[in-house]
Amino acid sequence: MKKRYLVGNLKMNLNAVADVERYLVSMRKETSDRSDDSVEIVVAAPSIYLERFSLGLPEGVVPAAQDVFWEKEGSYTGQVSVPMLRDLGVGYVIVGHSERRAYAHETDEEIGRKVRAVLHGNLRPILCVGETAEERDGGRATETIANQVRSAFRDIPPLSAERVLVAYEPRWAIGGDTTPETEDIFGMSTVIRRTLSEAYGAAVADRIPVLYGGSVKEALLDRVCLAPKMDGVLVGRESLYPHEFSKMAGVLSRDGSSLETGM
Ligand code: PGA
Repeated sequence: MKKRYLVGNLKMNLNAVADVERYLVSMRKETSDRSDDSVEIVVAAPSIYLERFSLGLPEGVVPAAQDVFWEKEGSYTGQVSVPMLRDLGVGYVIVGHSERRAYAHETDEEIGRKVRAVLHGNLRPILCVGETAEERDGGRATETIANQVRSAFRDIPPLSAERVLVAYEPRWAIGGDTTPETEDIFGMSTVIRRTLSEAYGAAVADRIPVLYGGSVKEALLDRVCLAPKMDGVLVGRESLYPHEFSKMAGVLSRDGSSLETGM
């Protein structure tokens, strides 16, 4: 059975060590009786707290970083490297999140470098792609997504490509309460797979997980994840509540069969 992914992105929240510790206690409590490994649970924490997350997350919940720099070491003030993250026990790195594209002006070229660095360091990138409302309204969503995917996967051989997760996160759906229609999410995941299959063939493209992200809540899972045969979700705000977040793992694993068949 194909694994599904539940990825939380805590962003710049939990502003004190005491809040972090409370979060970890709650996460341990909520996931303590989990025996099912059909859903991989990942939590992307602020980098300054990653060591605490690495030590304090329950077994079976993997810590992730929200960003990384592409160089291994050197005079890069303020940056964090892949070896630093690996040393802390981080398993995944979010790359190209729309908030990094918007506020840090990350380009597709830089995002490609980060994806390659993460793979090179044996961690798994979670590549975010998504169109703005303007691109959507101008009929350029498909072209935008295909270009972002092509550029991020440039120079990546097939075996490494299979280690990347792609999260389709329309920028206009993040941080609000609007989500795309199920058919539109499915349509965009088809665009992503088609683009990947042009580069690697259908078999490899099929093995690359495609997630959906943007205003995900438990009640919306069947709309954004199950019916369109997506491989999981990237969750922002709701991942700040371990009780709500862990319930999503239950839904994703329960409905695994409908995911497989696309029902
Ligand atoms: P949201 O964030 O769930 O709060 O919309 C999603 C994301 O930015 O990944």
